This record gives sequence, C-alpha cells and structure tokens, in this order.
Amino acid sequence: MKRTRCSRLLLALAAAAMASAASAASIKISCGAVGQELELCKRNAEAWAAKTGNQVQVVATPNDSSERLALYQQVLSAGSDKIDVFQIDVVWPGLLGLHLLDLKPYTQGVEGQHFASFIANNTHAGRLVAMPWFANAGLLFYRKDLLDKYGQKVPATWDELAATAKKVQDAERAAGNDKMWGYVWQGRAYEGLTCNALEWVASHGGGTVVDSDGRISVRNANAAAALRTAASWVGTISPTAVLNYAEEESRGVFQAGNAVFMRNWPYAWSLAQGGDSVIKGKVGIAVLPRGTAMGGNAATLGGESLAVSKYTRNPVLAADLVLYMTSAAVQKERALSGSFNPTLPALYRDAEILKANPFMGELYGVFNRAVARPTSATGARYNQVSNEFWNAVHEVLAGKVKPDDALSRLDTSLNRLSRGAKWN
Ligand code: GLC
Repeated sequence: MKRTRCSRLLLALAAAAMASAASAASIKISCGAVGQELELCKRNAEAWAAKTGNQVQVVATPNDSSERLALYQQVLSAGSDKIDVFQIDVVWPGLLGLHLLDLKPYTQGVEGQHFASFIANNTHAGRLVAMPWFANAGLLFYRKDLLDKYGQKVPATWDELAATAKKVQDAERAAGNDKMWGYVWQGRAYEGLTCNALEWVASHGGGTVVDSDGRISVRNANAAAALRTAASWVGTISPTAVLNYAEEESRGVFQAGNAVFMRNWPYAWSLAQGGDSVIKGKVGIAVLPRGTAMGGNAATLGGESLAVSKYTRNPVLAADLVLYMTSAAVQKERALSGSFNPTLPALYRDAEILKANPFMGELYGVFNRAVARPTSATGARYNQVSNEFWNAVHEVLAGKVKPDDALSRLDTSLNRLSRGAKWN
C-alpha cells in the first residue's frame, strides 16, 4: 500500500515536472549593446527567467541604432519569431508599430506611473506598442579638473565652448598630451548625428527640420549658421575621425582622458565614474550650450522602450518579461548601476538614485524640455527624413558642401518625400 502511494506520488511529480518543462519557454530578447546595456539587460532578463522558471536568450544587436533598425525591419517584415522582445528607440513606434503587440491587455494600468509623454509616444494607432524603459537627453560632459586648472568656466554658448576647448586643448598638448582634443561628439552618418545636429539647429533658433504641422522648415539662415559652427570644429577642436564616431567612440576618447568636452547620453556617467576609469571624480555634467538667444539650450530627447513582436509564440510570457524589465525595481537598479534615467517620475525622488546620479536631479528640466525629433509629423517616413538630414549634415561637416547648398538640396528631397506636407 505504502509503496503504491509512493510510486503514485513519484508519477505525479514526474508528470508535473514534464508539464512545467513543456510550459517553460525560452524568450528571445534583443538589447542594445552601448556601454553596459547588454550586460545589464542580460542580468535582469536572467533574473526574470529564474523567478518564473523560464529561459531567456539575449540577442545582441549592433551599437549603431540605424543598423539596429535595419535588422529589426528585416526580422519583423519577414514575420519572423526570431526575436520576441525588442528594445526599441523612442523614434521607432511609428515605424514598427504595425508589427508590435498592443500591451494594454497585460499592463493592469501600470503605464499610468510612467511619464505621460513617453506613453503617448509609444501609443501607435491607439495601441500601446511599447513600455518605456529609460529616457535620454543630450548632455555636455566636461573635465572639471581641466577647467579648474586653466581657470575656465563651464561654457554657456557654443562660441564659449569652442574657445575654451581650444585653449585647454592647446595648453594640454603643450604640456605633453599630444592626444588631447577639445570636443568629441557623434558625427557618423547615422541617427546619432541627427540627434547632435538637431541640438545645434534648435539651439540656434533654426527649428526642428520638420514642424509639428508637417511643414519643412530646415532651409533657414539659423540652421545654416548652426551647421557652419559645427563644421568649424572638425579638425580644430574635434578630430576629423569624429565624422565616424558614434556614442562609444566619443566615450572612448573622453574616458581615456583625451577630451575636455563630450556630448553624450546619461549612460556615460556611470562608466566615467567606474572604478577603473582614469577620469573618475574629474567629470561634471551640464546642459549643452545655447546657440542664439532665440534658440536657447536644446537637448534632443532620446530613450528606449521594450516591445513585444506580433509574431511571438509566447505573447503572455514576453509581455510579462517586458513588464518586469520596465518595473520600478529594475529601473532603479539600472539607474544605480548604469546611470540610465528612469521613465517613472517617482524614481526622481529616490535619494539613492539622486546620490549616484546628481545630474538626474540637477538637470531634471533638461529631460523635461528635451526637443523631440519630428516623428509625429512624419510618421512612417521618419527614418527617411532623418536619413536625408544626417547625410546633408555629414556632407557639410566633411567640407564637401556649403551649409546653404546642403539645406537647399535637403529641402528639395524632403519636399519630394512629404508629398505636399501630407507625409503618407
Ligand atoms: C540613443 C537614444 C536614441 C537615439 C540614439 C542615437 O540610443 O536612446 O533615442 O536615437 O541614441 O544614436
């Protein structure tokens, strides 16, 4: 009798184990790989897997966001289930929305805790196609120690930045560091250049390339002045190689101690402050300089969300992973270990987060007022618009075309794309 009960129990246990093995799924999540992105994504996704008895596979993607978009478009337009969960850029909901699942049925209202503007951005045709994960805004990183050494202030205007960068660069080179540069940023022909150039143009009062009503506004004297200013940096305070720099190349130069100023996203802070960083304790963060009084300061709004593919075989689990990864607990951990700005306003009152990342409190307004790229007006055409813009800017920076000519050609090509400001 005893034996029978025991073997029945064993049988039941074995059946349960088989059932749970059958229901345990492997979810494939794609993450960016800039700085600590991949490492942190892996750590948190694996914690979810351990907690829920599932498995995760983290798919690494290219650092260059434009290359990442091309890869995603390929996977999604084939209707492939190769990736279940996608890390998507703030400018992609309009481009990829049709291939993404509506997360509303899974969220139990948690989206109400995120910044409303982010949720609005991630709502495509009335469907919540992604949950916000971290926010970005362009920031000016500077070497406090070098500004102090040469009695310089944090620059308030682009002209001041150029003058200070040149002064400190020349003095440091004369003192023996011939690798020193004044200013590093993202000048490669990709989405990152659109972000940088939008900051130059908007801070000069030159608009946002396409207005919110769909009108193409980029051909104007302020935009031309902004591009002329940026082109004058190449080869003087910025290495010519900046024309091929994305985020990590600029950070490489700055973190090696070889640049006075850097334009980058918040993630660069925690790496600069890392144990093995030669610039630890020597870095400050400020708002990017203003151009003209009319333009003021401008930081491009960036950020990333997590979305579920419509073609996943495991929508419930994939949505659960997304909600876990974007939860307050995980966002807090990512803010502490990677200086990723949370998308939950409540976390900006968290003392630990503010202590580890003083800029998140001090520069809160920068994130609030950040300039959006013209995605709402251009919809599914955004990537083509951006592509035309970054190519035009890149040609100016490379000295191949004059700003006025580049903007006039850009105006023509954008008009062709817009089909009379209809953008569809
Ligand atoms: C960051 C931002 C994203 C931007 C990209 C450009 O990933 O989050 O919004 O498009 O940088 O390189």
